[in-house]
Amino acid sequence: MNTFKLFLAGASALALSTSVNATDLEVTHWWTSGGEAAAVAEFAKAFDATGNKWVDGAIAGGGGTARPVMISRITGGDPMAATQFNHGRQAEELVEAGLMLDLTELAEKEGWKDIVNPPSLLDSCTLDGKIYCVPVNIHSPQWLWLSHAAFEKAGVPVPGNWDEYVAAAPKLREAGIQPLALGQQPWQSNLLFGAVQIGVGGLDLWKQINLEKDVAAASGPEMAKVFQAMADARNMADGSNVQDWNQATNMVITGTAGGQIMGDWAQGEFQVANQVAGEDYTCLPGLGVNEYLSTGGDAFYFPKLKDPEKAAAQLELASMMISKEAQVAFNLKKGSLPIRGDINLSAANDCMKKGLEILATGNLLPSGDQVFSADTQTQFNDLMVEFMNDKSITPEDAQERYAAIVEAAD
Ligand code: GAL
Repeated sequence: MNTFKLFLAGASALALSTSVNATDLEVTHWWTSGGEAAAVAEFAKAFDATGNKWVDGAIAGGGGTARPVMISRITGGDPMAATQFNHGRQAEELVEAGLMLDLTELAEKEGWKDIVNPPSLLDSCTLDGKIYCVPVNIHSPQWLWLSHAAFEKAGVPVPGNWDEYVAAAPKLREAGIQPLALGQQPWQSNLLFGAVQIGVGGLDLWKQINLEKDVAAASGPEMAKVFQAMADARNMADGSNVQDWNQATNMVITGTAGGQIMGDWAQGEFQVANQVAGEDYTCLPGLGVNEYLSTGGDAFYFPKLKDPEKAAAQLELASMMISKEAQVAFNLKKGSLPIRGDINLSAANDCMKKGLEILATGNLLPSGDQVFSADTQTQFNDLMVEFMNDKSITPEDAQERYAAIVEAAD
C-alpha cells in the first residue's frame, strides 16, 4: 500500500476513534441467573453499539445482598456509573443526599412522560419534580409456575388455581415430587406472601392494608384466610432446600417440583431451557384467582461522576435503555413487560401475553417497594422467613406480628 493510502487509513481510524467518545461505564446489577444474564447481554450489546463500553458489574446473591454493596460504594465515594434498583423508594436517601444524576433534561427532551406506561413507573423515579432513574421493565411477583411433567407423573391435571394446586399436593408427594419449590433467600418468602395475599385475600383487602395501612384489616378474618393459605404453602414447601430463586425455578423446569410462586423473571429461565409456555409449563397470574399484577421491576440510577465524558456517556446509557429497540430485546429475554406501550412484542409468549392483557385492563397494584419503606419491607421479609421455616409459629401468631408491623409502618 503506498504512503498516501497508509496516511488515509491512519487518519480515518484516528477520526473514528476520536469522533465517538469510547467511554467505559461500570454498571452494577444483581442479574446473575441464566435468563437474567441473557437479558443483560442485550443491554450490553446495545450500549457497546453506541461506541461506549458496558463494563459489567454483576453482584451475585440477589437484591438483598447487592443493594447494600451498591449503596455503600455510592456513599463511600467509589460510585459505579449506573446501578439497578427496584422501582420505588430504595434509592430515596441517595437522591436526597444529592449523590445521583438528575435526568430531567434528558427525560423532557425525549418525552419520557409520554412514553412510560404505566406513568406510575416514572413517578417512582421522581423526587421534588426531578427525574433520577430510567425505568427498564415491569416485573410482577404474583405468578404461579406449574410443571406439566410433574402433574403428569403424579397423575393429576395441571391445576387452574391455588385451591386445585393445594389439593394436588398429596398426589405430588406420593409421586416423589416436591409440591412447592421455594428458595431460602429472605425476599422469596415475602414474595410468596404477597402473591398469596392478593390471590387469596383479593384486591380490596390488599388495598386496605398496603395503601391505607389498615391495622383492623391486617388483623381481621379475611387476612386470617391468607395466613392459613401461607400455612398450606409452608407444608407444600417443606423439603425444598435450595437457596436461590432460579434453583427453585429449575426444579419446576426439570419436573422435580410441581410449582413455584415467583415473579415473571422466572420466564427467562424457562426460555433458556427452551421450554414453551402452555406446552411444558403453565403460568397463573394472581395464582389463577385474582388476576392482578403489581408494577414492580427495575430501574437504573446514575451516581454523579466528576468525569464529563462519563457523565455524557451516562445520559447515552439512559437513553439507550428506554429506546424501543433495547426495550424489546431486553424484555423478551428478561421475561418482563416493557415500560413503553408503543412497541411491537409479537414475539411475546403465552405468559407474557397474559401479563400484557392484565396491563392493558389496568388491574395493577403498586409494588410493595413503592408503598412501604425499605425498612418496613425488611421487617415483612424477616417475619415471613421465620414463619416459613418455623412450624411452631402458628398462622395466628404470624398474623398478630404482621398487624403490628403494619401499625408501625413508615
Ligand atoms: C428482582 C428484580 C428482577 C429479578 C429478581 C431476582 O428484584 O426486579 O429483575 O431479577 O429480583 O433476581
